[in-house]
Amino acid sequence: MLTPRQSGIRRVYNAGMLVRKFPEGFLWGAATSAYQVEGAWNEDGKGESVWDRYSHRGGRIARGETGDLACDHYHRMPQDVRLMKELGLKAYRFSLAWTRILPEGRGRVNPKGLGFYDRLLDELAAAGIAANLTLDHWDLPQALQDSGGWENRDSADWFADYARIAFDALGDRAALWATHNEPMVVAAGYGGGDFAPGLSDAAAGYRAVHNLNRAHGAAVKAFREGPPAKRAGKIGIVLDLHCLRPATGAEEDRLACERAIDNAQSVFLHPIFRAKYPEAFMEWLGPLAPEIRPGDLELCSQPLDFLGMNHYFTFDVRYNSRGGHLKLSQDFVSEPGLGRTDLGWGINPQGLSATLARIAPIAGGIPIYITENGCAMLDDPDDRGYVEDRGRLDYIRRHLIELHKAIESGIDVRGYFVWSLMDNFEWAHGYGPRFGLVRVDYPTQKRTPKLSARWYSETIRDNAVAE
Ligand code: FCB
Repeated sequence: MLTPRQSGIRRVYNAGMLVRKFPEGFLWGAATSAYQVEGAWNEDGKGESVWDRYSHRGGRIARGETGDLACDHYHRMPQDVRLMKELGLKAYRFSLAWTRILPEGRGRVNPKGLGFYDRLLDELAAAGIAANLTLDHWDLPQALQDSGGWENRDSADWFADYARIAFDALGDRAALWATHNEPMVVAAGYGGGDFAPGLSDAAAGYRAVHNLNRAHGAAVKAFREGPPAKRAGKIGIVLDLHCLRPATGAEEDRLACERAIDNAQSVFLHPIFRAKYPEAFMEWLGPLAPEIRPGDLELCSQPLDFLGMNHYFTFDVRYNSRGGHLKLSQDFVSEPGLGRTDLGWGINPQGLSATLARIAPIAGGIPIYITENGCAMLDDPDDRGYVEDRGRLDYIRRHLIELHKAIESGIDVRGYFVWSLMDNFEWAHGYGPRFGLVRVDYPTQKRTPKLSARWYSETIRDNAVAE
């Protein structure tokens, strides 16, 4: 049974070619995040974030690069919105820099910082582009990190207070709100990964997981409790949900895969949608497991309007006695002939439909948006800066075909956002990997839409993808 929102989905044959039409009103967009594009890291009263500190510390980021300037979007925002309009985007996903709005993370509001997002929302509204905002795309205020950051249980209140300020100021023009983006990656910054704040203490990572879940719930409550006029949109969370599958039929690989899924996905999906943590996994963690106090799980499990899913790749998971506290290792899977992206990530489009089929029932059938999907490719510009990025176009097209199949099977997916609108600062990899539909020439900041951008515009116009 197709839901009413999925009306219009169909296959048509045009001159022998299969064309897959998406549902009416399907939300086509592209995504960025504050630290990766804005620059202006210390302008107009902005405070320091953990990513400012982490990149400035040196030794952590390829070539010693930082997000200080990035795409200079803070100063070029109106022209960037014009570009989005030219491309025909229906929606733009971006994040708020908490430190622009509250330089110390709490207390004093910085009107100039809030003003930037206020103007951005007005520009988007004038261009007829729906706004999809994320409150936390990893750039926690450093002042809060100095008080323990996401390890501190108070972080749930800090986050809810910030969220309330953002909802009250911007919520009349926002279509979609996400609390966190990929909280697992935030926790990896505590547990041991190449992410700010750069700690490596597994127990700290799981404490962060639990507080991120509590903070998420507290922000959703703040959303529900506020004045409806300032809560015009919908609220959800964005998780990184990749395809994880056992490398072989062996029991130890199957169990390793379950642990990988629990560790990366269920520790968020289960408290949020089922008000409990995966029990066997918590037992496996033993002393590394976070403390859960009475009332915590009620807080985490506020009803949501949608689930945002970021999806990039598929892993084969196997048991490995030397594979850390999870005792496993993961290898990228590539569909034969499709190879890898510039970051070495395997390309396996079927992983998208397989993951949607697994996740949709856990999310209880609420609408899903693909909030990120895309690839870093070795772009080779001509002398005018134009890039004929057939590899990126093919990656997106193949994923859209799988997405269409998932919608045909009855999964309620309402929109799709390419990562990214434009080349930007790719975290620990710096400016090397290019994910954009639009090329950014960093020395001049010139934007040049790539072939994939032109193709994506046509896809949006036709609301369809050809096989
Ligand atoms: C995701 C992040 C996003 C971007 C892409 C490539 O994990 O959410 O900011 O870096 O990966």
